[in-house]
Amino acid sequence: MPTASSRDRGPILVGTWSFSLAAIESAWATLAGVPPLDDRSGGRLGPDSRLLDAIEVACQYADLDPGVDSVGFGGLPDSSGRMSLDGAIMESPIRFAGVAGLRRHVHPVSVARLVMERTDHTLLCGEDADDFADRHGLAARELLSTEAKEAFERWETARRTGIGGPIDQSKDGSLLGLRPLDPGLGSKDAGRLFRPNGGREGAAPAGHDTIGVLGRDAAGNLAAGCSTSGLPFKVPGRVGDSPIAGHGLFVQPGVGLATATGTGELISGISASFVAVETLRRGGTLRDALEEVMLRIDELGPLRPHHQVGIIVMDAAGNVASGAFRPGFLVATRDEGGGRVSGPDLIHRPDDDGLPESAREGLAKNNDDPEPKDDP
Ligand code: GLY
Repeated sequence: MPTASSRDRGPILVGTWSFSLAAIESAWATLAGVPPLDDRSGGRLGPDSRLLDAIEVACQYADLDPGVDSVGFGGLPDSSGRMSLDGAIMESPIRFAGVAGLRRHVHPVSVARLVMERTDHTLLCGEDADDFADRHGLAARELLSTEAKEAFERWETARRTGIGGPIDQSKDGSLLGLRPLDPGLGSKDAGRLFRPNGGREGAAPAGHDTIGVLGRDAAGNLAAGCSTSGLPFKVPGRVGDSPIAGHGLFVQPGVGLATATGTGELISGISASFVAVETLRRGGTLRDALEEVMLRIDELGPLRPHHQVGIIVMDAAGNVASGAFRPGFLVATRDEGGGRVSGPDLIHRPDDDGLPESAREGLAKNNDDPEPKDDP
């Protein structure tokens, strides 16, 4: 893997999960300052590069995609059947804001950007965050899609009756949720990380995930954003890692940036994005950063089979590496070479003890090369 001192890789956007490819493709034109259908620059950034705009556009794209079951409209609700969205945007430890528990506004990163740019604060939550968005002219709207409502009703029925819900059993016989597994862009389930049926009609989903986007413009500016509907059927009021600096994202200008996705409680417990960037700051390589995060997660003790953490790290030169605790994580990249989806460079437990049998087919298709690579 490259070191933090390796050559300048130019402008780049990177996103968590394969569904983020369309989001970062849509944002590339914003980063390059040219309209998407008239891209005569060849994708090279102009002097009026708008990195924050690009991060926001990418997250907004995912927010509005009803086919993505873990972000924005189309995401799954909490255990009361109501949606709540979290997100954040970050340029540096002093230029950051997050919002948690939005119930009426679909773009957490847009609200967070307003908090960052128009207040001295870094975190707003709940109804007051929605009211703040109202006051700044953002339109309120319905966040619960018909499909998500139906998924909630199936989950509710399963919970009440014990029929049709959760899913695979662990070795000790306890019931498990599904963890996020990326079926890849070619799949009819693209964007669905939870495959609610788990191979069985009526089974309930129980997993979650986030779009995290890392960006670098031609001038070397860095920024990150993330947006999520959080854990499906979560306890109302639960907030994960996404809106918190150092947890779901972290940016240290001149050093690097990171974003994490997966089980927010694990990510928050070790401040995963901060740990990754801090490893770079102390002279570590991208691989060191990934290994440090995975080792610290491992040290948390026995993990449940539905637990997963994926992380993307970028150095100041735009070199990128990604890792996951277990197989099933994919990363999207857009740079001057085009757009692409790839598996992570490091999988901490490639043997994947505890992976539900119902999830293996998708993995085989999308993670052809689960071995760590030397150079991403
Ligand atoms: N990683 C998103 C969440 O746990 O809410």
